[in-house]
Amino acid sequence: MTTERPGGLAGRYYTDSEIFAAEMDRVFARSWVMVGHASEVAEPGTVITARVGDESVLVANDAGQLRAMFNVCQHRGHELVTSTTARLDRITCPYHAWTYSLDGRLLHARGEDVGEVCVPRVRLETLAGFLFVNLSAEVPGLAATAPGVQDDLLARVPDAPQRVLSARLTHEMRANWKVVVENYNECYHCPNVHKWFTSGVVAPGSYRIASGGSVIRHAAERPSQPPAWTDAGADADGAQTGDGEAAGTGEGYEAYFVWPVSAIQCYPGQVINTFRWVPLAVDRTMLIREWWFDTADLTEAQSRLVSDDWENTVAEDFGIVESVQRGVASRGYTPGPLIEDPSGVCGVHSENSVRHLQDLARASLGGAV
Ligand code: FES
Ligand SMILES: [Fe+2]
Repeated sequence: MTTERPGGLAGRYYTDSEIFAAEMDRVFARSWVMVGHASEVAEPGTVITARVGDESVLVANDAGQLRAMFNVCQHRGHELVTSTTARLDRITCPYHAWTYSLDGRLLHARGEDVGEVCVPRVRLETLAGFLFVNLSAEVPGLAATAPGVQDDLLARVPDAPQRVLSARLTHEMRANWKVVVENYNECYHCPNVHKWFTSGVVAPGSYRIASGGSVIRHAAERPSQPPAWTDAGADADGAQTGDGEAAGTGEGYEAYFVWPVSAIQCYPGQVINTFRWVPLAVDRTMLIREWWFDTADLTEAQSRLVSDDWENTVAEDFGIVESVQRGVASRGYTPGPLIEDPSGVCGVHSENSVRHLQDLARASLGGAV
């Protein structure tokens, strides 16, 4: 029998499929989840699909109006759209060919009169061009959930709403979604694990994480040597300093994590990339990593950045989170104390943000488990 020390979630939170099922209701069916970007559905007739917890939703451009709805046929439940993206005048279910308009109204059921049928809508809001949906009609809107994030992102990257999908990389991890987002939201492990990130993207000594409500903000100055993919970096000659602890200069790094599974990151040079995590099972999570530049085609420098970031930062966490998942499932695991800075400043030596995430998880589940 394990005991739960203050600050550390017991292992069962990461391994118990009943807790996972409760989270589908209590977290994912009530939270704002990023599903893409408005540029993906800019043309009338374009449709994207995405998973939100254990549900599939679709977003359609219906003659210029964006509409989000459950991706569920109202006949016998087949998914209406089975691909990630599609271009359609109307939506025809692959099973028995009932056909719907892009606003979700049934147009015909192969000649049968089945009365008025409509696919249930879900809430859709945008944040600097990024599409978020919420399956609940009762919770506050996105602006109240992530206050100030849109303004801050637009101040930093004014053309964020015009950016387009330039790269998408995916990877399935054998780890609970909370193991994964806790790992994302602390930089206590960064100096130890992420050498490229802490020498090429950020000055780790300047890294700060601020948690409040549903948002965890990350900020750091860039290294003293401008990153190679920025204009300044491309122009610079001379060797990289590489120590990463040097005082940063110029435009830095910022990231906005929106509970439970979405993050928008700005790298130096107005580079935007995003993380979406999809909980597949209590011990399986899909990562969708996307990059948003001015055009769909990557320059050589952008292409190198995307692959360097994947190989030298993102993939470094895959083994970490899978090892943690095995560990929290062990009979030998008792949750350890979290390293918290009492001043509330969370840098590379503290885990205040992990406590915040665990508090959110506990609060969401309430007495459910
Ligand atoms: S389930 Fe869609 S038409 Fe039958
Ligand atoms: Fe990491």
